[in-house]
Amino acid sequence: MDFLRSLGINDDNPGACFGNTEYSSTTDAGQVESINPSTGEVIGRVWSASEADYEKVMAKAVEVAAEWRTVPAPQRGEAIRLCTEALRQHKDALGSLVSLEMGKIKAEGDGEVQEMIDIGDFAVGQSRMLYGNTMHSERPLHRMYEQWHPLGVVGVISAFNFPVAVWAWNSFLAAICGNATVWKPSPKGALCCVAVQNICNTALEDGGFPPIFLSFIEDGNALAERFVDDRRVALMSFTGSTAVGRQVGERVAARMGKSLLELGGNNALILDASADLKMAIPGIVFGAVGTAGQRCTTTRRLFVHDSIFDEVKSILADAYGQVRIGNPLDASTLMGPLTDAASVARYEAAVAAAVEAGGEVLFGGKAIDGPGFFVEPALIVAQNDWDIVQDETFAPILYVIPFSDLDDAIGMQNDVKQGLSSAIFTNDIRNAERFLAATGSDCGIANVNIGTSGAEIGGAFGGEKETGGGRESGSDAWKAYMRRQTNTINWGSELPLAQGIKFDL
Ligand code: UN1
Repeated sequence: MDFLRSLGINDDNPGACFGNTEYSSTTDAGQVESINPSTGEVIGRVWSASEADYEKVMAKAVEVAAEWRTVPAPQRGEAIRLCTEALRQHKDALGSLVSLEMGKIKAEGDGEVQEMIDIGDFAVGQSRMLYGNTMHSERPLHRMYEQWHPLGVVGVISAFNFPVAVWAWNSFLAAICGNATVWKPSPKGALCCVAVQNICNTALEDGGFPPIFLSFIEDGNALAERFVDDRRVALMSFTGSTAVGRQVGERVAARMGKSLLELGGNNALILDASADLKMAIPGIVFGAVGTAGQRCTTTRRLFVHDSIFDEVKSILADAYGQVRIGNPLDASTLMGPLTDAASVARYEAAVAAAVEAGGEVLFGGKAIDGPGFFVEPALIVAQNDWDIVQDETFAPILYVIPFSDLDDAIGMQNDVKQGLSSAIFTNDIRNAERFLAATGSDCGIANVNIGTSGAEIGGAFGGEKETGGGRESGSDAWKAYMRRQTNTINWGSELPLAQGIKFDL
């Protein structure tokens, strides 16, 4: 495939990246295979990092971070502008690789690269706006202000479902904030990692910038555990399951490091009696079926007002019947495969558990025979308090639940352990405001007449409770990648103490 060659992907893919276009030649740690989830076939291989590779990556990251923090922030922004320009040139090819290797449809693969470009543009502007506050001192002839300094090395552990955008959210902001980034991608996104390193590191090298983006790939967890425990990593940004994120958070906290956690969601959408169904139905189907239900923002629960429950069930079942499943690179496909056989098994087990609990399957519910890890999108009438509904199953299963009172719907929506994304479709301004109030949705993201997934990069992205509390991407998320310093300057010739304390020698 030509687009692979244009990304520097060939039979001889490298392993750990020591920055710029310098890669490890270690072969003793074995290979990571990249599998096409649509066929189960191997697309390519990269070399797994050895312990020596890991040490070299970390030592180089520490060295380059010490240099990079002295580069003025707007010049750091210029480095990211070059990366963003390079991504624009490679958008089509990289979007195709994301689609091929991850299994999301081509439009979503391109959309993921667009998310990288968007956060890159954002980071360029932000590089001139790393603002601190100034305060009025209580003492005469004193001045107080705060400034933001780089942290050093930022670690990024990313998941299979967003193999390129999550790295960009973190590493572009980390870069303009003056940090070097070490990336450990999901091994399922090994080729995406190589392609992104090729594109961005070539742009940095051509622009004469230091090698601030480094990475290593492995098949197991041994080096990842070392990475999490490594005191050289000032901030560990982790995207993945709540179970693993809890361990990461605890281990990083034990060494008093900082962590940024983006964990599971169990996102709900509420349809009240006034909802505009012409808008709501595509929003629900994209939210539940897009990326084959493998976004952390996927719509997993749908609360429907009693008065429209039967109508919505039948419209949705009909809409699900229109979802074309198949090769994600085919322009007409709307849903690709799950990521692997284990995900298909978890999907089947979840459907079986919902049926066992009394669920009524309105559509789908079965794995599709043949090569690849395809399933039918499932629509199941359920109850919120069932164990299976309380869990996040990373698959296209939408639980449909009736309600009669909006307060009850909001209560059920919040009555899960996760708190990432939420939405209401309504034409009733009171219901919209009720949903957004302090007593409304308890999630990090709460939308009106928009689905739960597909957030823009300009807002802070993340969620509460077992979603981990981290915020990435827009707004003031950059602050997570810097340390704040408060400075008090006395420009007088006396030494008054704060709080009026007298200490006369
Ligand atoms: C994820 O699934 O890890 O809001 C991130 C969205 C995307 C990001 C999802 N912009 O659905």
